[in-house]
Amino acid sequence: MLRHFLQFKDLSRDELLYLFERTRVIKARFKRYQPYHPLTDRTLAMIFEKSSTRTRLSFEAGMHQLGGSAIYLNTRDTQLGRGEPVEDAGEVISRMVDIVMIRTFEQDIIERFAAHSRVPVINGLTNEYHPCQILADIFTFIEHHGSIQGKTVSWIGDSNNMCNTWLQAAEVLDFNVHVSTPAGYEVEPERAGLYGTDHFESFVDPMDACRGADLVTTDVWTSMGWEAENEERMKDFADWQVDAEMMGVAKSDAVFMHCLPAHRGEEVTAEVIDGPQSVVWDEAENRLHVQKALMEFLLLGKVES
Ligand code: CP
Ligand code: NVA
Repeated sequence: MLRHFLQFKDLSRDELLYLFERTRVIKARFKRYQPYHPLTDRTLAMIFEKSSTRTRLSFEAGMHQLGGSAIYLNTRDTQLGRGEPVEDAGEVISRMVDIVMIRTFEQDIIERFAAHSRVPVINGLTNEYHPCQILADIFTFIEHHGSIQGKTVSWIGDSNNMCNTWLQAAEVLDFNVHVSTPAGYEVEPERAGLYGTDHFESFVDPMDACRGADLVTTDVWTSMGWEAENEERMKDFADWQVDAEMMGVAKSDAVFMHCLPAHRGEEVTAEVIDGPQSVVWDEAENRLHVQKALMEFLLLGKVES
């Protein structure tokens, strides 16, 4: 059966637990320099309508490491940028490659592409979601603290694609998210694709959202696509900077995460992101390992080797 990963809840709890275990195996093998080429002769097309460092590198390197190859496409140099319908692009591209990753604007674009694709499609970030990043973040949490079930994640800042995806993940994997955003930037449960409100709580004061948390996380105040609002956002989010005081009310062993790129002195202080509780480099590295497990799963199903 053809499977896509367009939003976090496209995978069940059992499948996610399998993926995290598989990621551990693939990462350990990679660290031992042990070749593993289950995707020989498979091709990944990566379509970027927005900038990227980590997503491009982790998918491209990951596909090579699995024995396959990757092709980078962007809007500027393809017919997508000249108005070719996304449905037509889905039909054509999916006849030439084995798997596709797309980074784009509205979720609707990737949904339409996937509806016309013969091969698995992976969301490499949309305005609404960033599911590959949350796979990496939860794997990183598990490496540091074990299961995330029943734990508390504090989300401080914008209710953006990262926040929405944390909220979906909380429903699938049964943990809690404490969200604090400035007024006017609150979570929209429908846009976040939530089943309910049982797994998150909103706080006016970011300090209250951080109290007792196992993980404190934030992201840029201005995501790609919202640049026109940057000046206004800098003022509106000024009190939502994650600092040592916020980390101080979280659990003493709480970790700090940021999907990167980060702006020190805006959404997080240098003291926190470069401090002992920060796991941002593990988090970035784990994009490579979880996405290798994800591509293997979407192309080969569950494997045991
Ligand atoms: N975190 C993340 O997706 O980074 P890039 O924008 O560099 O891909
Ligand atoms: N929320 C950010 C994440 C970047 C990886 C953005 O969408 O720009």
